Amino acid sequence: MAQTKRATFGSKIGVVLATVGCAVGLGNIWRFPYMLGDNGGAAFLLVYIGCILFLGIPVMITEFFIGRYSHKNVAGAFKAIAPGTKWSIIGYNGVLAAFLILGYYSVVSGWTLEYIVQACGGSLAGKDASDFANEFTNFSTSVFRPILWTAVFIILTHVIIISGVKEGIERASKVMMPVLFLILIALCIRSLTLPGANEGLTFLFQPDFSKIDSSVVLSAMGQAFFSLSIGMGCLVTYASYFGKNTNLQTTALQVTILDTLVAVLAAVMIFPAVFNFGIEPTAGPELVFITLPNVFEQLPFGNIWSFVFFVLLALAALTSTISLHEVSTAYIHEEYHISRKKAAILVSIGVFIVGVICSLSMGIWSAYKIFGLNIFDFVDFVTAKIMLPFGGMMICIFVGKRIEKNLLREEVTNHGSIRFYFFNTYAFFVKYIAPILIGLIFLNETGLFRAIFN
Ligand code: TRP
Repeated sequence: MAQTKRATFGSKIGVVLATVGCAVGLGNIWRFPYMLGDNGGAAFLLVYIGCILFLGIPVMITEFFIGRYSHKNVAGAFKAIAPGTKWSIIGYNGVLAAFLILGYYSVVSGWTLEYIVQACGGSLAGKDASDFANEFTNFSTSVFRPILWTAVFIILTHVIIISGVKEGIERASKVMMPVLFLILIALCIRSLTLPGANEGLTFLFQPDFSKIDSSVVLSAMGQAFFSLSIGMGCLVTYASYFGKNTNLQTTALQVTILDTLVAVLAAVMIFPAVFNFGIEPTAGPELVFITLPNVFEQLPFGNIWSFVFFVLLALAALTSTISLHEVSTAYIHEEYHISRKKAAILVSIGVFIVGVICSLSMGIWSAYKIFGLNIFDFVDFVTAKIMLPFGGMMICIFVGKRIEKNLLREEVTNHGSIRFYFFNTYAFFVKYIAPILIGLIFLNETGLFRAIFN
């Protein structure tokens, strides 16, 4: 494939940390623990690990293949590999999904900044559970502060993006990811030394197989996709910055292991603390913004724990927002031949508008509903439950149908210089098994599964 002079990541460790940064985010620390709580703990964890192994890794390698082979942004990649065909819709679907996800993701990311500031000012202290719930509702439905924090978060993302792939994304990830790991481990140790820790660990690691049903399996698959950033070309875009020598298989393995480790550690940090204070593990999405500050404030030095935790969440979110921003920025920059800086400004302004709409839809615009959902929930639904599975499924079908097996083998083995032990199994999975399984997630998440099979 023709290669223009294009940015690449500078080092092996940079590749891994930037890609782990893309994968690790609110999905690991906020979404995973409450999904686990809602779906029976250890049983969900087991199924989740199965999904990661059998679906996550093959699909991730496939996205890496498309990106590294084409050396293009996600829309450009499909145009380059299959010129003049409709396959490029997969790319446009990805760019649009990234843009929309970034809109509401920035709002939630902005909330973490509010909590950081509150923890610094000591204003989280001395409150009880209902205070936390009321304050969260008041804050998230108000007009100015959430928008202000959304703007701040987009500006932070913007600054990293305009510094470039190597100087911005790679350098920021190399600093932020190790810090994130350290903070996470410190918080785990704190949580594990609480008196009620055992109960939390039992919930996490002792599976009750009777809890596994089709909805647990399908929710675990959906979570695996979201957490690994699969399905819309974030990984295609990042892989387009990989060097010729990057080993796609080991990178996928390392990213997957680290992403799963962070999710499991987040659960280890949260559940012992939750059980220790007698809170229901199934507290849902508000687990992180209402339950956890309440848990922390009951500990000695509560403000410090809250502060450290929300810094952790903000860092995780930031390495994901840059990956989402990069998808759209690279697309505009390369396809419309606009400078990277200008492309980034367009994306940031656009995302801010989506963010403002999403944020207001939780408060003063909550009466505006689409299919019964406010705009925030609607954007979340359309992107995470329709566009991602669609994208993931189409990426697999595309590679299964359009790409010759030999070419795939050449690229994923760096032209024969590295081994790929289960190549045929991998190719079979991507062509047949993955699209069917993803199709099932899709039916489940959109509610069609229940309608058809019950
Ligand atoms: N994986 C990230 C998380 O866990 C979110 C994310 C970043 C994402 N890029 C993505 C999700 C692309 C789906 C697709 O928070």
